[in-house]
Amino acid sequence: MKAEDLKALLDDMSMEEKIMQLVQLPGWEYEKDAAVTGIAEGGVSEKAKQLAGSTLGLYGADKIMEIQKKYIENHPHHIPLLFMLDVIHGHKTVFPCPLGQGATFEPEVARKGAEIQAKEASADGVQVTFSPMGDLVRDARWGRVVESTGEDPYLNGRMVEAMVKGYQGDDISDNEHIAACVKHFAAYGGAEAGRDYNNVELSEQTIREQYLPAYAKGIDAGAKLVMTSFNTLNGLPSSGNKWLMRDILRKEMGFDGVLISDWGAIGEMVPWGFAEDLKEAAGLAMEAGVDIDMCTEAYGSNLEELIGNGTISKEMLDEAVLRVLTLKNELGLFENPYHGASKEQFEKICLSDESREVARDAVRKSLVLLENDEETLPLKGKKIAIIGPYASEKNMQSSWAISGSPETSVTIMEAVGESDDVKLFLNLESAKAAPADGKTIVCIAKGSTILDDGTVTGMRVYENENFDEENDKLINEAVEAAEWADEVILCLGEHFEQSGESTSRAEIGLPFIQMELFYEVQNVAKKLVTLVFTGRPLDLDTIPELSDAVMICWRPGTEGGHGIWDVLTGKCSPSGKLPMSFPWVVGQEPIHYNAYSTGRPKPLEGPGSFTTRYLDVPNEARYPFGFGLTYSEFEISEVNLDKTELSRASADDKITATAKVTNTGKVEATQTVQLYIRDLVGTRVRPVKELKGFEKVTLKAGESAEVSFDITEDMLQFWTIENCFESEPGKFKVFIGFDSTTDNSAEFMLM
Ligand code: GLC
Repeated sequence: MKAEDLKALLDDMSMEEKIMQLVQLPGWEYEKDAAVTGIAEGGVSEKAKQLAGSTLGLYGADKIMEIQKKYIENHPHHIPLLFMLDVIHGHKTVFPCPLGQGATFEPEVARKGAEIQAKEASADGVQVTFSPMGDLVRDARWGRVVESTGEDPYLNGRMVEAMVKGYQGDDISDNEHIAACVKHFAAYGGAEAGRDYNNVELSEQTIREQYLPAYAKGIDAGAKLVMTSFNTLNGLPSSGNKWLMRDILRKEMGFDGVLISDWGAIGEMVPWGFAEDLKEAAGLAMEAGVDIDMCTEAYGSNLEELIGNGTISKEMLDEAVLRVLTLKNELGLFENPYHGASKEQFEKICLSDESREVARDAVRKSLVLLENDEETLPLKGKKIAIIGPYASEKNMQSSWAISGSPETSVTIMEAVGESDDVKLFLNLESAKAAPADGKTIVCIAKGSTILDDGTVTGMRVYENENFDEENDKLINEAVEAAEWADEVILCLGEHFEQSGESTSRAEIGLPFIQMELFYEVQNVAKKLVTLVFTGRPLDLDTIPELSDAVMICWRPGTEGGHGIWDVLTGKCSPSGKLPMSFPWVVGQEPIHYNAYSTGRPKPLEGPGSFTTRYLDVPNEARYPFGFGLTYSEFEISEVNLDKTELSRASADDKITATAKVTNTGKVEATQTVQLYIRDLVGTRVRPVKELKGFEKVTLKAGESAEVSFDITEDMLQFWTIENCFESEPGKFKVFIGFDSTTDNSAEFMLM
């Protein structure tokens, strides 16, 4: 529809029609088995269903087409309904969780994944996804770190930008793309004490330098929607924060798309103590520029009165409604209200071999090898025991893969069973009886359940009075298998509901029942490889010390088994790098590499009396941001700068920093070369390091490559004492290395 026709439509709409375009209803109001991702509330009137502008939680081409057809027929102006869904890291082909995608340090992996997710979701009737999440995270106690790409603003920005491009392509009106929604604006990941929905207290410097950049990258990439966050930012709930939404989002970032609240967030201004009642909350949200009220009665029940008494202007209402109509128009819904919905197309592309292969590659690249003593991996044994609840657990996705089906995933056991050079047995007796025909014998032993009684209060409590007896049996079988085997692969991990929304944890270890299994197995294992399935950095306890190899598998999704087995057997080397620091203990949280030195930095050696230190644990992360091993060894030369002065005067001036990387090991592998910069003196203190670039290089044994990064003045800007982004002359250090602890550096002056 032409812009002038859209304006004419707006002018012809009744007040009630306009207001209801700003109301989003839960999908169950239209169809009973919609996905529930928020707090269930009472039903709404038939009229509200008929006039609401959008709904969320529905998918299924025929179902959505049927709802849409009826809706349009009955709408006074036949305006189409908008269908939104959380397609976070997969619709049917489920990719590694976003934290795992961050570990790839390869934005193209995220873009390709988002592209496939959009294709599947669009064919299934979805028109908008509530993704990507651009929230920076530093506290592993917060359950939603699983949905973030980590603790660094630069990495997050690259990944968010790629996801927006994958979901939206060049034109969201084409049937294979959907509109993307950058969330949760803003700084939701900074929740106090790591507790979800909590207050966030940040300086403007930290907000601007750390928490906002990734959202901005998503908006610059053309994201059509932004979602408000549940948290307060320095005392202001985001959905009512005019500074954040009008000044920062709309004016500074230039966002002119649809701003949608998170589920119930407008109404939550009342329990926050920011609004007396829903009516006041509705006014505050409209003033802040929130266009769509997700699943409360605030807008639907109060806007008419607020406009009538002049609290909200008609112009403000029209501005919001026009943004919603424009989104529908950009999706082409006035011409084709079903967008990409097509059961035939969905069945043709859903979980295709091609999509699975892309997901399998993403899994391989997401795995982070933390320990590999004496080259334990890749596997070499002829008798292998694969033990633990994740040896054959189908659900390897996150709690946000709401439309994914775990039964379509490939477990490690299933991947092993497909191997031609392996014979797989489900118990030790049959494994022991196997003829010695040169094939590798693999025996599976579950070892334990994922959770024990009451491990996660209210989440999973087993009503099984024989639990202890059955569990002892599982452990005994596992120990026998471990004694028999040359090598043990122990597959441990969080329950999928231990990460995600409203899953903050004060302790971040593995479930005790699995640690019990670990200690029993490690006692007898000749070689022990421990795999960890997790949605967050964990306190790994003594696992690294007592294992010969440790690999983080995140929540790998549909192709988890294939991707993991590919790496374990050396089909390819692991290459993942930590997008978030792993602590020694939860007491170090929040912990992040780009911290400040303090006035009393603790020396690397010695007790560090009267310096910034813990008496009982190191300051540093156990495994730092950017860290990850490969099956090879790499060396790097000193940092070479083509010059040592960069001028602020000429905009196109640059310094090129180069380092030579060599694969000094025995096998081909991929290394992620990282560029960090430190501004040694500023009018506000500066982090000890900031990631400013990365490049993956794949080298054969003995091969070398020069990796270069251009350093330009804009990369050196920060939020100065003048309260604006600019660079300041002075000395800088540039680091090039393989993780955030590198001290491989050179210095230059900014003039
Ligand atoms: C949830 C989440 C948000 C999600 C929305 C719709 O509460 O906070 O990330 O997109 O509701 O499901």
